[in-house]
Amino acid sequence: MRVHPAGPLHAEVMEQADLPQMPNAAELNELAPNVWPLTAKRNSNGEIEIGSIAVSKIAKEFATPIFIMDEADLKGRAKEFLENFSKLKNEPLEKPTQVFYAAKAFLSTYVAKTLHQLGLNIDVCTEGELLCALKAGVDPAAILMHGNNKSDHELALAVEHSVGVVVIDSLIEISRLEQIAQAAGRQVKVLVRLTVGVEAHTHEFIATAHEDQKFGFSIQSGQAMAAVEKIMSAENLELIGFHSHIGSQIFDSSGFEVAAGRIVDFAKSAEEKFNFEISLLNLGGGMGIAYLDTDSPIAVSTMSDELIAIVKDKYGERKIPQLAIEPGRAIIGPSTITLYRVGTIKPVQTDAGFIRNYVSVDGGMSDNIRTALYDADYSVALASRSSTAEPMLCRIVGRHCESGDIVVRDAWLANDLKPGDLLAVAATGAYCRSMSSQYNLVTRPGVVAVQDGETKIVVRSETYDDLFATDPGF
Ligand SMILES: Cc1ncc(COP(=O)(O)O)c(C=O)c1O
Repeated sequence: MRVHPAGPLHAEVMEQADLPQMPNAAELNELAPNVWPLTAKRNSNGEIEIGSIAVSKIAKEFATPIFIMDEADLKGRAKEFLENFSKLKNEPLEKPTQVFYAAKAFLSTYVAKTLHQLGLNIDVCTEGELLCALKAGVDPAAILMHGNNKSDHELALAVEHSVGVVVIDSLIEISRLEQIAQAAGRQVKVLVRLTVGVEAHTHEFIATAHEDQKFGFSIQSGQAMAAVEKIMSAENLELIGFHSHIGSQIFDSSGFEVAAGRIVDFAKSAEEKFNFEISLLNLGGGMGIAYLDTDSPIAVSTMSDELIAIVKDKYGERKIPQLAIEPGRAIIGPSTITLYRVGTIKPVQTDAGFIRNYVSVDGGMSDNIRTALYDADYSVALASRSSTAEPMLCRIVGRHCESGDIVVRDAWLANDLKPGDLLAVAATGAYCRSMSSQYNLVTRPGVVAVQDGETKIVVRSETYDDLFATDPGF
């Protein structure tokens, strides 16, 4: 079947409609290395393979949609963070920066175990994430517990398992945790989460360091110092440092520079006021990744050098405390793709006078809510074959009853695309499976890790038994 071609798309129309540059037919088959997983390439048949396995083989064995995780990519990025953040311009730090993998990006026992074995710590913010990390065998001392509304039960679990550090997010929580720690006869190490009033260059809804938001204690209003004072008088809590997280999908270090400046200034005044010294400074996560070939976040090595230098600069002659970071997306995001099967293709005339081809796939907003939620951009490629056909303008949409059910807003795909073809959407490792839903009573896709021709189930795809397990009528 040959679907309606894009028709004449003049530069002016494209600009007005904010459409991406139209590639030529050959470019359509390319996989930009900054976007696609490390081992992703086209094999001699033109099909995409990852970890030396052709995607059609994975689709056959596991059905679609399915998340495919490139193990080599995941491990490589984790090591890159560990190595680079342990030194400043090739000079080893006295204490290497602690790298906490932010579990919210995506967690399974396999991911927790793999990353912990490489030397990463784990940042969790719910009972579920904590249980998963513990089940994976993560040393509790390597776990950091976040959350703006941790329940008494969650705090008690953290204390019972002796997690390494709890990040305090409210005055009420200080009393709760102190009581729980006292009852258990335990000392608990804590950080205070600071709101530093920095808005990192990122999407409004995922920036988390404005003053007017739910996380942390504002430095400006004096709440942060009040929290320090309260912890100082809590016998079972030990304040070891401060934390801030300034946003997500950050491409350079300028936001961190302002934030680190404010945290260090605050830490120094708290230390002076209460006569103690902090041992940990956690600068949070948010390091960005490329979703499009035109995205260019700075390299991890540059980010690490710049962040460490910023803190060193602020401390001057004084020895800096150990640093910590919490990358989630930058470790897992690029490792994974989502594989979908094309169901229908529908050419639609737009108001601007051009044809947009709506390509429906067998997943959608239930496995990737980021496009609907944040207007996120993604790259998509015809995966089961290459093509020499000319590009047509497409919108990749899901199968849900929602017109906002869009996976990729604007994409160019070969105009010989047909139902049954496989499409791959890149960089879906973070905040896709972890934010997935069963909307419209669909089963959620599994995650399969691939390496050297071998597959491993990270999370199996749900069955209808799983889906209806909580409905007593079944
Ligand atoms: C406190 C905290 N740390 C780390 C992260 C991870 O962010 P990213 O995945 O963008 O690195 C988040 C994400 O929201 C967060 O809230």
